[in-house]
Amino acid sequence: MYLQRRNRILRQSSAIRSLVAETSLSPNDFIVPLFIDEGENVKTEIASMPGYYRNSLDVTVKEVKELWSMGLKSVLIFIKCKDELKDNTGLEAWNENGLMQRSIKAIKDAVPEMLVMTDVALDPYSSYGHDGIVKDGEIVNDETVEALVKMSVSHARAGADFVAPSDMMDGRIAAIRQGLEENGFTKTGIMSYSAKYASCFYGPFRDALDSAPGFGDKKTYQMDYANRTEAVKETLMDIEEGADIVMVKPAMAYLDIIRDVKNVVDVPVSAYNISGEYAMIKAAAKMGWLNEDKAILESLIAIKRAGADLIATYFAKDAVRLIR
Ligand code: PBG
Repeated sequence: MYLQRRNRILRQSSAIRSLVAETSLSPNDFIVPLFIDEGENVKTEIASMPGYYRNSLDVTVKEVKELWSMGLKSVLIFIKCKDELKDNTGLEAWNENGLMQRSIKAIKDAVPEMLVMTDVALDPYSSYGHDGIVKDGEIVNDETVEALVKMSVSHARAGADFVAPSDMMDGRIAAIRQGLEENGFTKTGIMSYSAKYASCFYGPFRDALDSAPGFGDKKTYQMDYANRTEAVKETLMDIEEGADIVMVKPAMAYLDIIRDVKNVVDVPVSAYNISGEYAMIKAAAKMGWLNEDKAILESLIAIKRAGADLIATYFAKDAVRLIR
């Protein structure tokens, strides 16, 4: 056989494969989600996220130092709010001495260069487990946005580098940007969860924070997973309203969305490799059905290849170990 072109030439050794690889991972690509709890010296493994923990602040600070030493440069923080502080207004979310605000300060004090991003949504603080204020069984938009602005400004005041609204209310990015401007926080970024779908794959995360919705579901604010064009609409609106970084979430079942968004925006695109995606790999590996390390690398490369510039992932430390 005489062939004009033999595609296997570029695959024949590991050296040539790495030379022509189109996608690569670096520690600069990752955002590390952290779950923070009250107390001291507390490290609780999350049942549905084996190998991932909810830590008290002292343990978190040590962890953040380790992350920085590994070349990881940004954390996304979530706190577990005590039951007695939950209500239907979100009041605790902008408490100057709340766990979130103390966490931001402690992390910035310990590792000033670490980029601290904060989750902005009411669900951990809500007695209903919803991302907004509930009235007559409905999650009301405009009052929720007012709460989110107070929450964002309070995170900025505590020293957050980026606020990350994950609630999917209408108009929240414009309102948060205005709130930050009015309060003089001209250096605080907004990483918007722009195309966030109503997904069953958030299950393990809701275990981690005890934040599952008490009634109904999140389909009146998070997106319908049947939709693709709508993701572009949501994302372009968030950019117009002032988002610095946009996000698609989840990641693995939404690679088409990541690519659609990447093709039309002029800001960095992040993707959230969420808790259920972590749990699936962990569970299959535990059963001996998948090679965990290979599954991690393949998933993260796929997310990046789809168009993500940044990936929020519970596998960040594993990835750094694997790419070294
Ligand atoms: C809260 C929030 C959720 C996640 C990030 N922020 C859960 C939800 O919307 O119900 C999910 C993250 C994950 O599953 O890893 N608004």
